[in-house]
Amino acid sequence: MINALRKKPVEIEEATASAAAPRPEEVDKRWAIEARGLRKSFKAGHVMVDVLKGIDLLIEPGEIVLVMGPSGSGKSTLLAAVSGLMKPDQGSVVALDTNIWKMSRQKIDKFRLANCGFIFQGFNLFPALTASQQVQIVLKFMKIKPAARKAAAEATLRDVGLGHRLGNRPDRMSGGEKQRVAIARALAKKPKLIFADEPTSALDGENGNIVMTLLRKCAKEQGATVLCVTHDARLAAFADRIITIEDGLITSTNADPASFAHHH
Ligand SMILES: Nc1ncnc2c1ncn2[C@@H]1O[C@H](COP(=O)(O)OP(=O)(O)OP(=O)(O)O)[C@@H](O)[C@H]1O
Ligand SMILES: [Mg+2]
Repeated sequence: MINALRKKPVEIEEATASAAAPRPEEVDKRWAIEARGLRKSFKAGHVMVDVLKGIDLLIEPGEIVLVMGPSGSGKSTLLAAVSGLMKPDQGSVVALDTNIWKMSRQKIDKFRLANCGFIFQGFNLFPALTASQQVQIVLKFMKIKPAARKAAAEATLRDVGLGHRLGNRPDRMSGGEKQRVAIARALAKKPKLIFADEPTSALDGENGNIVMTLLRKCAKEQGATVLCVTHDARLAAFADRIITIEDGLITSTNADPASFAHHH
């Protein structure tokens, strides 16, 4: 009897609080990326292989998050689903308050052009173009005028330490320099979201450090949100947070960087 009497006012209070005034942390919480229930299967011969088995991914603005896991665990598939490159079978992705998989292909492409920078393992540079031209191309797609895009491209190349390589073509650059061109290309438009898939796997330790330092700088100085997938344990030290994935499922959303330091 006493319990019942005591309980009632509390229930009313709670109900009123949640209906009229959501708790402050819920109001303020604006994820840069909010992915929910991602599932993806591929056909392998006659069977379907489940590669993403129901993944939630929440990333704060300005965070640099590593997704780590063994080969074949679904890292690249996850990155592609979150970044608008490959539609998941199920689940939603809200990036910068935009529900991307609800949009047309064309709108998704526009969203990516306006907001996303991509860095991949293979650099994907055009053999015939100079470093400056490689970076300018993206800005041309964004309809930035020639003089402005040349200035922006070369400023970004200077930022990544390639001021002396502006006129070089890829065959006259080292692997580390090529990856820095690819990074400059991704960063020149000052994207709010940066997606990197194994950005350092073709690089030695020193060049890997340079790449990760640049990504960290983007996050901390420009507020960019960085999602980087890798199985390179050396990158753990550069992350705000490490998410581990195994066999299509997240096994930790805040793994201890120290636990990766000993693996290599
Ligand atoms: N387009 C595709 N068609 C069929 N199977 C695919 C496709 N893409 C990926 N897979 C399969 O999905 C699984 C996960 O692939 P994914 O590329 O996401 O792994 P990963 O974690 O990035 O691996 P790695 O570290 O080797 O890059 C693998 O078994 C792969 O063979
Ligand atoms: Mg991969």
